[in-house]
Amino acid sequence: MDGRVTISELEKVYGEGPERTKAIDDLSFDVEGGEFVSVVGPSGCGKSTLLYLIAGFLDTTSGTIAVDGEPISGPGTDRGVVFQDYALFPWRTVFENVTYGLEESGVPKEERQTTAQKYIDLVDLDGFEDKYPKELSGGMKQRVGIARTLAYEPKILLMDEPFGALDQPLREALQDQLIDIWDDLGKTIVFITHDVEEAVYLSERVLIMTRHPGTKKTVTEIDLDRSGSREDIVTSDAFAQYKNAVWKSLHEETQTEVTL
Ligand SMILES: Nc1ncnc2c1ncn2[C@@H]1O[C@H](COP(=O)(O)OP(=O)(O)OP(=O)(O)O)[C@@H](O)[C@H]1O
Ligand SMILES: [Mg+2]
Repeated sequence: MDGRVTISELEKVYGEGPERTKAIDDLSFDVEGGEFVSVVGPSGCGKSTLLYLIAGFLDTTSGTIAVDGEPISGPGTDRGVVFQDYALFPWRTVFENVTYGLEESGVPKEERQTTAQKYIDLVDLDGFEDKYPKELSGGMKQRVGIARTLAYEPKILLMDEPFGALDQPLREALQDQLIDIWDDLGKTIVFITHDVEEAVYLSERVLIMTRHPGTKKTVTEIDLDRSGSREDIVTSDAFAQYKNAVWKSLHEETQTEVTL
């Protein structure tokens, strides 16, 4: 399947001289095409940096990132980013926000409208096409953000704490919606979160990063029976075990930070 991300010996240094900060140190990790991987790690360990490097917004200091075997050299429509703060255009309606990327890539008007409507429907925002971002709740704004990114049909969705600002019920609703989208569209998803439960609930593997400068600490495979309801899943023994394993590994990193 398409959408494989290969990260090899990645290093990212910001700034020079006394300002120099190594954000990522010798990180190698592969994401399979169609896989859902979450990334957790202490604050400041380089999670957003990693995501923006994969997106091509930042240049690597050394090492490579390849998509389907091709080293990336900047942003591309094969990768789409969803931000925590939604990053919507306040002067554009929901519909116009979703069509933005398609306009930029020169997609003809009629096709733009059909595609935008498809993804607006997919995130359950039909009826809200003409609203402006300020008229929407946080959850709705994030659904616009997701629809806007899906509209140009990237193979890989890169999500930086997309539900971090939402309350628990909304967060859970959007998690389930994201799983449905992932099932339907078969995208590769790299999902950053602070929330261990969210990582275990959503993903097939969790990458736990070390504290600053970030590198791969542990990778936990999550093999849950997901055929039941959310309640069945989150109250299962297997779920608790995975959660503990990820939490422990993460906690070791935050502990070290505090005792130093
Ligand atoms: N533009 C920048 N210039 C200089 N240093 C930066 C820049 N962006 C990030 N950093 C530094 O790189 C390190 C990693 O930052 P990054 O934002 O990737 O961490 P993070 O894991 O996403 O943190 P959080 O969980 O708080 O979002 C931090 O030490 C940060 O101060
Ligand atoms: Mg971050």
